[in-house]
Amino acid sequence: MKVTKGIILAGGTGSRLYPLTIAANKQLFPLYNKPVLYYPLSLLMLAGIRDILIISTEKDRSTIQELLGDGERLGIHCSYAIQQAPRGLPDAFIVGETFLQNEPCMLVLGDNFLYGADLSNVLQTAIQQASGAHLFVHHVEDPSAYGIMTVDAHGSIQSIVEKPQNSQSHLGIIGLYIFDGNATVYAKQLHPSQRNELEIVDLIRKYQTNDTISYSQFGRGFTWYDTGNPDDLLEVGNFVRTIETKQGLLVASLEEIALRQHFISVQQFERQVADMPNGVYKKTLIKFFNETNASNTH
Ligand code: DAU
Repeated sequence: MKVTKGIILAGGTGSRLYPLTIAANKQLFPLYNKPVLYYPLSLLMLAGIRDILIISTEKDRSTIQELLGDGERLGIHCSYAIQQAPRGLPDAFIVGETFLQNEPCMLVLGDNFLYGADLSNVLQTAIQQASGAHLFVHHVEDPSAYGIMTVDAHGSIQSIVEKPQNSQSHLGIIGLYIFDGNATVYAKQLHPSQRNELEIVDLIRKYQTNDTISYSQFGRGFTWYDTGNPDDLLEVGNFVRTIETKQGLLVASLEEIALRQHFISVQQFERQVADMPNGVYKKTLIKFFNETNASNTH
């Protein structure tokens, strides 16, 4: 399917991060050297998506908008919407109805971090092959903390359950999804669960009856986290620091991705980097650019 629209669901109260979240916006917390929000946004950009809706609480909206603006400097288009209460993940398709216009979409949760080789190709291939709903799964140690998929010996989906207590399956459904143009219609048909939320697994199940569900499985070469608590923030921050220090490359640098994806021209990239304050981030981007140019000429 062709997917040109993406949603970042970045609402929620951040209760697991209290007291950090009393006065601050969790999307702007540092994941090592970049705001948390850069990482899910980088996933949409790597997937080739340029039309992006960011859904947040009313309180957080202005600072997120200050961070990304209309997205023009990254060659993307950012728009903003408010989720008045954390009514559940499928609410993204109701809040985002006007933005979506019943078109397919990639949804990413604002606290998700995903890193691994050739990610851009993996995401773009998934988009091409998807019809109906497409999920991404990764091995998780504790099935009771995530949406879990069970498959049979042939890899066919048997069940999709939210936070099962005694699951034998460790296939965790990560917070990245592709849905076709029916998502808003289906989301509106859902009823709140016992915890009083619309559940993403119920939306996915709608596709089990009428449409197709496919999935991509990330192997052990990939690292996935949701960064909703202080320990994960620290752990992922250290992970990013290790990769960046060891390889001398940036993880989730939006300017680098915009250039690689040809969302911006070389001149636009150079102008932005020139305007950045001196520091490691700028230095690393210049190094990346010089090395890319050098390898292109050989
Ligand atoms: O991270 C993957 C998991 O995300 C999936 O495996 C589960 O199936 C899915 O339900 C979800 O589980 P969580 O328990 O992690 O969801 P949580 O309520 O923590 O919300 C995830 C993020 O989405 C968090 O940053 C807050 C944001 N959010 C959540 C809700 C319910 C919103 O912006 N609005 C909402 O209404």
